[in-house]
Amino acid sequence: MTTALITGSTSGIGAAFARRLAADGHDLVLVARDTGRLREQATELHDRHGIEAEVLTADLAEDAGIEAVAGRLRDRKNPVDLLINNAGFGNKGRFLDVPMADELRMLKVHCEAVLRLTSAAAETMRERGRGGVVNVASVAAFVPRGTYGASKAWVVQFTQGAAKDLANSGVRLMALCPGFVRTEFHDRAGMGTDNIPKWMWLDADKVATTALADLARGKTVSIPDPRYKTLMGAAKLVPRGMLGTLTSRTGRKYGPQ
Ligand SMILES: NC(=O)c1ccc[n+]([C@@H]2O[C@H](COP(=O)([O-])OP(=O)(O)OC[C@H]3O[C@@H](n4cnc5c(N)ncnc54)[C@H](OP(=O)(O)O)[C@@H]3O)[C@@H](O)[C@H]2O)c1
Repeated sequence: MTTALITGSTSGIGAAFARRLAADGHDLVLVARDTGRLREQATELHDRHGIEAEVLTADLAEDAGIEAVAGRLRDRKNPVDLLINNAGFGNKGRFLDVPMADELRMLKVHCEAVLRLTSAAAETMRERGRGGVVNVASVAAFVPRGTYGASKAWVVQFTQGAAKDLANSGVRLMALCPGFVRTEFHDRAGMGTDNIPKWMWLDADKVATTALADLARGKTVSIPDPRYKTLMGAAKLVPRGMLGTLTSRTGRKYGPQ
């Protein structure tokens, strides 16, 4: 029996990971800010799959919240075998329209929390000679657009570097880069999604299943869909400056409003 800790487990991609891992018989540590929702989720997964699900309420935009989760990851008596750093959110608006406090909050959740939790988990995993970390980034990491994309680019670079440093330790690290996924993400940010073409939407359950398969295969970066693999392959061929202009124009036309 292994244990997985998922941040942002109560909705969207995190909830899909929780369903997949519980169905596969893994015990879970569920992390988010809404305790009532966490408890409901833990009870449901326990009843349906017979697994143990712990609830850990934590705000990863706060030092105390990050430390509480890091402390759980360092608990050598109840080890965590798989960490999914998934909690995240979007801010509506272009640079200078978004309040600085919200930009900093995003960097804290997307970057600082991911750094500190990966470090806490990887240290104990390395001692045991096994474990895995999935850091949820985005295809936004590959195009020059806004603080969100920049924070996710950090997640990808950090994960690739850490994976290299921990090669042969038994600890696997992977950055997960989905495209648009139907979750609460856009509603929570107050972004309309009517302009996003239907073909661009991914299913959260399929994203989670593909991600776990890619981790098992030893990938360090996973783009969990052939459509986005092709798009990102094409984006690599375009000069960065031109890509910035192009994605800004198409983002305004088709992206979240
Ligand atoms: N949806 C997409 O199109 C898409 C595409 C690419 C990448 N992503 C990435 O996927 C990840 C999950 O997003 P999602 O689409 O599944 O969003 P979602 O449905 O809005 O779920 C977000 C989850 O994160 C938790 N959360 C948010 N802020 C938190 C905080 N400060 N501390 C602790 N937990 C927090 C939420 O629960 P509480 O509110 O209770 O804390 C919730 O469980 C994010 O990192 C996002 O950037 C999403």
